[in-house]
Amino acid sequence: MNKKRLLCIGLSLSATWLKGKGWQHPNSMVEHLFSTNFYVELAKRAEMAKLDFLFKPDALVLHIESLDHSPGFGGLDPAILLASIAHETDQIGLVSTASTTFNPPYVVARQLQSLHSISNGRAGWNIVTSIDGADNFSHLPMPSSEERYKKAMEFTDVVRKLWESYPNEALLINRTTGQFADKERISSIHHEGHFFQIKGPLNVPAHPSGTIPLFQAGASETGRDFAASTADAMFAATPDMASGIELRKDLRRRACKHGRQPDEIRVLPGLYFFIGKTRDEALEMYREAHSHLSTAQGYAAIQSILGLDIRHLPLDQPVPADMLKGIGEQVRSQTHADLLRRLIVQTQPTVRELLSRPEVIGSAHWMIVGTAEDAQREITRWFEAGALDGFIALPGSVQSLELFFDELVPLLVQHDLFRNEYTGSTLREHLGMK
Ligand SMILES: Cc1cc2nc3c(=O)[nH]c(=O)nc-3n(C[C@H](O)[C@H](O)[C@H](O)COP(=O)(O)O)c2cc1C
Repeated sequence: MNKKRLLCIGLSLSATWLKGKGWQHPNSMVEHLFSTNFYVELAKRAEMAKLDFLFKPDALVLHIESLDHSPGFGGLDPAILLASIAHETDQIGLVSTASTTFNPPYVVARQLQSLHSISNGRAGWNIVTSIDGADNFSHLPMPSSEERYKKAMEFTDVVRKLWESYPNEALLINRTTGQFADKERISSIHHEGHFFQIKGPLNVPAHPSGTIPLFQAGASETGRDFAASTADAMFAATPDMASGIELRKDLRRRACKHGRQPDEIRVLPGLYFFIGKTRDEALEMYREAHSHLSTAQGYAAIQSILGLDIRHLPLDQPVPADMLKGIGEQVRSQTHADLLRRLIVQTQPTVRELLSRPEVIGSAHWMIVGTAEDAQREITRWFEAGALDGFIALPGSVQSLELFFDELVPLLVQHDLFRNEYTGSTLREHLGMK
């Protein structure tokens, strides 16, 4: 009998609900943003809701311009933060982000394996090639996308070899014979590559629960191929259902080409949501969350994503697709540029419409504004259409976060789309990995 497919749900710890004026809400707990209380409370609730994992995006840079009125996107080191959460939780997965462009692979392999050990098999690695931060790493100019992916592939290969270099079975810990480990089973990796020369072995043994699940974010041609060959899940930006269906189909096809089963790669879009007790309340929250965004910031976002300046166009004029010719060759993220380009070509939005789109205001993430029932129906529709295997929750307001736990997750359980009890205690088990 076929087991019913269930959603895989993660909660982002990037505190999207504090964006704009969100942090000014009396229950925002913003004073605790740089302590563990904030996240531990959240982690415990997420574990009570039986979510698959917590997900900590990360950037190695501070955008000071946003800090005037908002906490921005910075914060605690993800591996350290997740280690403290590991201590306070028992079952929920802990996915940490580590950039392959700026870190040394030995350090990343060790940090993640340490997190895996102290959490008893709950660590995951979100592999990113990053779009900012070169000037914090003596790395200017930022390497091109191709160079970053080339390095990411070799980096990931090295990390995996390091994880295998000190297998758990090598540990004997025999008090009677006095033998601590079987050194015949521990081996150097002698990696000699284009970017790295690394002898190994790693100095932390592998956890017996199995290898750390790999997540990847970045959906350019190269990014997709990398994910399909290597990752267990992709954190995806899919602002509409068609882009989700296309991405998932393509990744599954590419996975087969790499000799994998299509189900081995899970597509998990970011879901940015505003949930209210009524639709009007949700809409009001959405407006409130974006009221700080000026038109000038919208124009600046379009220019930054695509290299396209449309300030001179009247607000009600459709953006001509011709304007895209010859621009945006060297973009920060091909994924975000492609999504915006596709939207302009396919729907010819007016300037005003473009300025309010998720591709411009919400990191290109899928957005739901409505009641918990609306959200449940929309998630079901995308799931049944093959646009996703689950999602990563990005709550848009404090109230949306509350209603996510109190109403949306229970509704998904009621509709047999999500578990009501864990059946394992490792991230691999939650994701259904062999
Ligand atoms: C949905 C999504 C989430 C991302 N999250 C992060 C992140 O947390 N940290 C980071 O340094 N880069 C992040 N990135 C950037 C990617 O790792 C990558 O560098 C960028 O998208 C360029 O790759 P591409 O050309 O395949 O889009 C993210 C990208 C996407 C699409």
